[in-house]
Amino acid sequence: MVEVLKFTFVETDLDAIATAEGRVAVLVPVEGNLGQEARRVNRLSKGAVARMHEAKAETAKLGDVVTLEWPAGMAAKAVDIVYLPRQCSVEDARKAGAALAKRRGASELLAMLGNHPKAAEIVAGLALRDYGFDQHKSAEAAEDARAVTVMASKPAEVETAAAPLLAVAEGVFFTRDLVNEPANVLTTTEFADRLVALKSYGVDVEVLEEEKLQELGMGALLSVGQGSVSPSKVVVMQWTGAEDKSAPLALVGKGVVFDTGGISLKPAAGMEEMTMDMGGAGVVAGAMKALALRKAKANVVGLVGLVENMPSGNATRPGDVVTSMKGDTIEVINTDAEGRLVLCDVMHYAQERFQPVGMVDLATLTGAVIIGLGHHNAGVFSNDDAFCNGFLKAADAEKEGAWRLPLGKAYADQLKSRIADLKNVGGRPAGSITAAEFLHRFVQDGTPWIHLDIAGVASVSGETAMAPKGATGWGVMALSRMVADKFEA
Ligand code: BES
Ligand code: MN
Ligand code: ZN
Repeated sequence: MVEVLKFTFVETDLDAIATAEGRVAVLVPVEGNLGQEARRVNRLSKGAVARMHEAKAETAKLGDVVTLEWPAGMAAKAVDIVYLPRQCSVEDARKAGAALAKRRGASELLAMLGNHPKAAEIVAGLALRDYGFDQHKSAEAAEDARAVTVMASKPAEVETAAAPLLAVAEGVFFTRDLVNEPANVLTTTEFADRLVALKSYGVDVEVLEEEKLQELGMGALLSVGQGSVSPSKVVVMQWTGAEDKSAPLALVGKGVVFDTGGISLKPAAGMEEMTMDMGGAGVVAGAMKALALRKAKANVVGLVGLVENMPSGNATRPGDVVTSMKGDTIEVINTDAEGRLVLCDVMHYAQERFQPVGMVDLATLTGAVIIGLGHHNAGVFSNDDAFCNGFLKAADAEKEGAWRLPLGKAYADQLKSRIADLKNVGGRPAGSITAAEFLHRFVQDGTPWIHLDIAGVASVSGETAMAPKGATGWGVMALSRMVADKFEA
């Protein structure tokens, strides 16, 4: 488990600048005079900051960071000078924090944030970007201080404002850890165990085992996991933070711990990436943790379908017909289109049991969404404009890319089967939309629904603004914000 940095918030003490070990960070405006912290570093370093500022007078841009290594007159090994005006966006403030995280290495950090109005957002960016999945590197257990002292003129205010942001960062890290974990470690059983651990934060967690899933009639979900030695499971996580017993928002996640494609086997090249095919379930888990840690005043239920898609003598064959919990029969044309088979049963169960006020499903569902939107935006599909716009607004505020794509009967018609109620693939054209239409069929009348195809954003090969390469935790922040905006009293 990667721990979020430990922050201590204290009142500004300029004398601490000379004696602090590790690194010291100070903010300077792009235009205008140096603040008292920068002036103190300048004095200690015999004018280094003023010279730097003067030299950069014409070229300094918001977000620039200049590092003075081994500054004279200070115990610290480096000072990071961050160009950040007082009036800046949340995004700019978080990026400034992220820039400090990238420079921190394993050192302690003293961040002098003064009276910056977005100090808490700087802290959030620092926390989010200071992540490294090193657990399986035998040499890398090294001592990482993971301790940051934040000095501010009103430390209690910054601490209060940062608390919910840090709670969400813990949710994001939970998602990243799950998504980064290899499939021999994160089996369906291990995944369920890690979700059961959310009980310690006040989340009610239930694990439905295969026998129960059979009883419920989840033939579609079970058909995906039947070729694996790992048992299929559905985990139900309930957070009841609202004062009343109002119907919950439901979050539903695809948790394919590894997707070989099954009998419709994937090619070898890149197959190792399919350890992230539980990304939807990972985001649901992280969102539930974030909501619990920040004690969201809302009722939210998270449901994940945990399965492994393997070829074996017992695996589902192309051409097999399976029966979903809803009762619709499905001709499995391609066993690699397994995510929708998992989700259709979990979505149906979520609606039958909870009558949710809204349902969001998340899944690394199609390669086609990567062709369409690349790694910058998740595909968004919805049957309800108001619900959808609420999500898009939250995603934009968190700078988690999301772009709406259409649904439509003509696409749904691509799923007609000769021998069953529908088939699980609709051909190459509009692959992400036909996948969404498959799910749409399992959404009950009157349930506002959003489908998020996160195949392109759950894990990426390059670093992003708030994450190193690998799992991003995309969606945890947007979902938490949407809950705050729309579901908290
Ligand atoms: N898990 C994959 C989708 C995926 C691809 C996620 C790349 C992340 C990166 C999904 O189960 C899948 O295999 N989809 C098929 C569907 C096809 C058989 C209709 C695909 O996209 O090729
Ligand atoms: Mn697949
Ligand atoms: Zn898959």
